[in-house]
Amino acid sequence: MNYRHAFHAGNHADCLKHALLVGLLRALARKPTPFTVLDTHAGIGRYDLAGAEAGATGEWHDGIGRLWAAPHPDLADYLALAPPGTAYPGSPALIRACLRPGDRLICCEWHEADAATLRRAFRGDAQVSVHHRDGYEAVRALLPPPTGRGLVFIDPPYEQENEAARVIEALSLARRRFSAGIIAAWAPIKHLAPVHDLRHQIAGRFRDALAVCFWRHPPLDPTRLAGSLLLVLNPPYGFEAMAHTCLAALISRLAGPDGGGAVERWAEE
Ligand SMILES: C[S@@+](CC[C@H](N)C(=O)[O-])C[C@H]1O[C@@H](n2cnc3c(N)ncnc32)[C@H](O)[C@@H]1O
Repeated sequence: MNYRHAFHAGNHADCLKHALLVGLLRALARKPTPFTVLDTHAGIGRYDLAGAEAGATGEWHDGIGRLWAAPHPDLADYLALAPPGTAYPGSPALIRACLRPGDRLICCEWHEADAATLRRAFRGDAQVSVHHRDGYEAVRALLPPPTGRGLVFIDPPYEQENEAARVIEALSLARRRFSAGIIAAWAPIKHLAPVHDLRHQIAGRFRDALAVCFWRHPPLDPTRLAGSLLLVLNPPYGFEAMAHTCLAALISRLAGPDGGGAVERWAEE
């Protein structure tokens, strides 16, 4: 396991996935009954943008740095949870900030030291549990959650050859075990062939799938991250409209002159 999210925290991919994640959590909180979030690839929860790793790539300057310099009103909810400063919140911190009493967060992180860091961050918090565990295995073991409502957030590093296939298997399993749940998975966009392949596979296996895609520049180089997408199965009411608004705001702040994005229905309800 070589991937360290500290090098990439706050980049454009984080901005897309986290702004949409907050939208999904707000949708869940519209109903009074409690919900559970399973964060399968949680990371360390909070990232020091003044630290050596973030400084080595400087990626956050073209992500959250731009949003801090020119905040967009349609991203206000996300930016309130990720305010200007040096500590950028990862998915566990953002999710925790959106929980109500009675809601639960289950985090899985397979990197031993990162899992320990995350556990320390939530020590004494009865609403959060942190597992040093394979997130894919957790989909099998921990779903459905006792609350019956919730979100599965799958955000792997894609450092293994077969990671996309593992994500599709995890989506299938999560759908089978937790049919009422919202399931969201992030994927990189480098060039178009893998995105078309993913779309084809999703369309053939699932119903009710929405993909929110963003690219800073045209995705033509398989070695370079051009953008990313968040795929949402069983998107909640109102999410599609929110995704359009959020994406337009992100494009206006983060995309280059030939960048763009799309909200695409990959499988009908
Ligand atoms: C993209 S980062 C996660 C970022 C985090 N979700 C966020 O938004 O702040 C991917 C994380 O998955 C962890 N990881 C890699 N393989 C894993 C696995 N099989 N199960 C759980 N975590 C894994 C990595 O150590 C890394 O921290």
